[in-house]
Amino acid sequence: MATTLDGRADAFIGGTPKRLLIGGEWRAARSGESFETIDPATGQVHGEAAAGDAADVDAAVAAARAAFEAPAWSGMSPHDRSRLLLRIADAVEANAEELAQIESRDNGAPLSIARALVAGVAETFVYYAGWATKIYGETNPSAAGMLNYTLREPIGVCGHIVPWNGPLGSAAWKIAPALACGNTVVLKPAEQTPLSSVRFGELLMDAGVPAGVVNIVTGFGETAGAAIAAHPGIDKVGFTGSTEVGKKILIASAGNLKRVTLELGGKSPNIVFADADLDAAAATTAQGFCFLSGQICVAASRVLVHRSIHDDFAARLAAQVRAIPIGQPDAAATMMGPLVSREQFDRVTGYFDIGRADGATLVAGGHALDRPGYFVEPTIFSTGDSGMRIVREEVFGPVTILIPFDDEGEALRIANDTEFGLAAAVWTRDLGRAHRVARALKAGTVWINTYLHVDLISPFGGYKQSGIGRELGRHSIDAYTELKSVYAKLD
Ligand code: NAI
Ligand code: MG
Repeated sequence: MATTLDGRADAFIGGTPKRLLIGGEWRAARSGESFETIDPATGQVHGEAAAGDAADVDAAVAAARAAFEAPAWSGMSPHDRSRLLLRIADAVEANAEELAQIESRDNGAPLSIARALVAGVAETFVYYAGWATKIYGETNPSAAGMLNYTLREPIGVCGHIVPWNGPLGSAAWKIAPALACGNTVVLKPAEQTPLSSVRFGELLMDAGVPAGVVNIVTGFGETAGAAIAAHPGIDKVGFTGSTEVGKKILIASAGNLKRVTLELGGKSPNIVFADADLDAAAATTAQGFCFLSGQICVAASRVLVHRSIHDDFAARLAAQVRAIPIGQPDAAATMMGPLVSREQFDRVTGYFDIGRADGATLVAGGHALDRPGYFVEPTIFSTGDSGMRIVREEVFGPVTILIPFDDEGEALRIANDTEFGLAAAVWTRDLGRAHRVARALKAGTVWINTYLHVDLISPFGGYKQSGIGRELGRHSIDAYTELKSVYAKLD
């Protein structure tokens, strides 16, 4: 497949500083400020975006409120909303290669992965286009003199704060159901990856999204993001990012009791029993913690291995990760690119040092690559000490830790001994054990003999400090509607 596109993505990235989309118009930030974006594969500046802050969020919220109340949106039939979402999907598909190149250049994802993620963006709009015409209330079994029924209504103005690992993918998971339900949106992409959202905003306008229905404010978390979380004119916040910021958003949202959906960090255990298909487990687990350089919330960042196969499995996993082609994101063979930023690079290499200093055994990797950009080796540690920081803390890099266990009960105790609960996996050929363990794991997603499979049809979200609420499937419809109960006296 072609890796160039007549330079369209490059021209967009390096073109004029990007503007904010507010009320259907492209404007500079009120402050006049902008900020530079960095290509993580080179460490060089490659683009510029407007630094929106609280004043711009105010304007965006006013536009979103006006659009929410305007008949063009509030009066749009579910059929027409469905058609609009399909047009957005078409626009994304027609420009998929450009969007993928922009995302890959902005966050360092291998282009092949960026393409797959952008394909997922289109599919998300197709999926929720189907829901727009299927948001039903219910008629309840009330007494003879009373009629009771429910209405599912849009919540209002939704603030969406998303991270840099799959910028448009995270945004689509929130915007598509929000629009299907009739809400309006203020989107703030991450400061590391603002560019694809700006291009997406242009496509939304081309697709005929009414002015103000989706507003895009690029800018920093502490300014634009915090303004969204605290804004009294925002009715709901959907956030994906760190647990630390998730807690801040929850506190800020208390001002007007915003509805909040949080998709946060993880320290997801993969439990490998001695009877598992060890080659499949090693290959899939390697992907599980190296996909997007490990910068995914469901990264397979703890691998619990039965003691009898620990050394054998460690060797197989090490062989798998040593074979992963690391390189420039746009090279066809590349399976792993750089980390997204200097900040992530410092954080991940910092954990290499922490793991060594705490006495974990280094099985593979453990170094940065000697080249420009933020590249590090896939890294495997091993330890029996579950108190270590690399066992307990989210690294968000291509780093995992092997931990031996002696029996199923101990495996479950270790697996659930974490403040997170996003995902987990169990590898075994014993059917009873697979489902027993799946049930006992405290995690929002459990994979049996596979990993990373996520489908829009099924809920996604976390137990414990991995989040609040669920996205995807019909659960996003619940998350983007208020439920009204209507009683009518009949006699
Ligand atoms: P972050 O949580 O700070 O950033 C995510 C989004 O939140 C960005 O759009 C950012 O601008 C915004 N934000 C930051 N501070 C905010 C605030 N005070 N109020 C409102 N919005 C705010 O994540 P960051 O700093 O990029 O990465 C740090 C760590 O967070 C990573 O190492 C990783 O552990 C975790 N993380 C988890 C993600 C996930 O998918 N669950 C995604 C990104 C980061
Ligand atoms: Mg941060």
